[in-house]
Amino acid sequence: MDAGIRISGDVISKIDDRLYGSFIEHMGRAIYTGIYEPDHPLSDDFGFRQDVADLIRALDLSHIRYPGGNFLSGYNWLDGIGPLASRPARPDLAWFAIEPNHVGTDEFLAWCERLGIAPMLGVNLGTGTPQSATDLLEYVNGDLPTFYADLRRKHGRENPYDVKLWCLGNEMDGPWQICAKTADEYGRIAAETAKMMKWLDPSIELIACGSSFRDMPSFGQWEETVLRHCFPHVDYLSIHQYYENESGDVGHFLARNLEMDDFIKTTAKICAKARQEQGADKNIYLAFDEWNVWYHYRVSGEEAPQWITARPIEEECYDMTDALVVGCMMNTLINNADVVKIACLAQLVNVIAPIMTMPGGKAWAQTTYHPFLNASRYGRGTALKTTIACPEYPVNGMGNVPFLDCAAVQSPDGKELTVFAVNRSPDECITCTVELSPWLAFGFNGASLSGHAPKTVNTARNQPCIPYPISSSSIVEDKLTVKLPAFSWNMLRVSLEDK
Ligand code: AHR
Repeated sequence: MDAGIRISGDVISKIDDRLYGSFIEHMGRAIYTGIYEPDHPLSDDFGFRQDVADLIRALDLSHIRYPGGNFLSGYNWLDGIGPLASRPARPDLAWFAIEPNHVGTDEFLAWCERLGIAPMLGVNLGTGTPQSATDLLEYVNGDLPTFYADLRRKHGRENPYDVKLWCLGNEMDGPWQICAKTADEYGRIAAETAKMMKWLDPSIELIACGSSFRDMPSFGQWEETVLRHCFPHVDYLSIHQYYENESGDVGHFLARNLEMDDFIKTTAKICAKARQEQGADKNIYLAFDEWNVWYHYRVSGEEAPQWITARPIEEECYDMTDALVVGCMMNTLINNADVVKIACLAQLVNVIAPIMTMPGGKAWAQTTYHPFLNASRYGRGTALKTTIACPEYPVNGMGNVPFLDCAAVQSPDGKELTVFAVNRSPDECITCTVELSPWLAFGFNGASLSGHAPKTVNTARNQPCIPYPISSSSIVEDKLTVKLPAFSWNMLRVSLEDK
């Protein structure tokens, strides 16, 4: 089939680099035997796996969110600092595991520094208090001669870590959350915590909890109430969404990023309305700080034993279909770069993650690693509007969906254009013409993840799903024509010259 993408040069927004973040929680094997495994032959002097660090480094992440997730709502950060021998093991009520506290705030922040990735920390507003949150901020960023800043110095860290991004709790609307709250309860504690934290360190930015997912019964009303309480004190509202393929209808699954688009736009409208009601002169932007595909393990995974450390839970094995869905979700984030300023692929290692490890063994990249890596590397700059002309297919409850999904990004120096394009068709190649009205195109290069059956996966032993260079294309003045194989994720890059 034939399709066209027209790029007129109209701008959606400059893309915030923080669209390319991820998330590590004390959950399953994300930390223990994931990023941290002191006995592993490839671990560094600090006990962190260097093979895993190399795979993470390649992703060029803007930031990593930590320490949760649901874990956050029962976490006492004081358990995770100071000499290892005196740290208590605790029952983790979020994931029914034993938390040994061998990795805590200092280990995580020092690891981020070694990787050159900014941390994004969460404060516990489940069992925690505004005071414990402010104490943590003092420990991490404090530069006064005060108790918690001095404690950090005593633990060997003289300079403040200067962490800029802070989450005020996690998914506090969810009944599964330790000490879940009503919108009023959460709005109040978030507002008071935010005030105290910003008084201590006015340079930080704060994220309030929005809805845990689009179908939460309180969606909308939760956001309105929370923002009524904390609008003046916070900077972002978080939203989360994981997609699954409940019905087994692949055509529907591949189109779920259109639901994500609607979720973003509806939430952004709520933020704009709150701004009006408050008569405020600032916007509250969105932090989409958990997004991914998540369902395989729930459907087929064995129940891991409880009350151990590093329970092997939610170890999703992602296939080609999931890689395409992740590619489409990434497109949606780019296409909403005017309102989504922060995002986190959830998570990073072993738990619903692009990177997997064997305890004592290999680390490898799953299928979903590749669309995310390329978006992170080449999706920086300015998001441009695209108009698609493409055949469509019917999806139950969604109307007609185009076979093609795309996003376009102009590099920060304006000299390159990158188009990310997914062909949703299971069996038909798309001959795609990209028309760049304001520019002439030259010097094409591209990559395609394609040629595999939908259920193909990467494993420790074999990783067939890796993008390969696109060898054939044609450029005539302002038109690039490329074939997008059936069932594929693609990246098309051209150099630009003004007409
Ligand atoms: O990322 C896994 C879990 O999903 C997180 O702990 C929670 O915030 C969400 O429900």
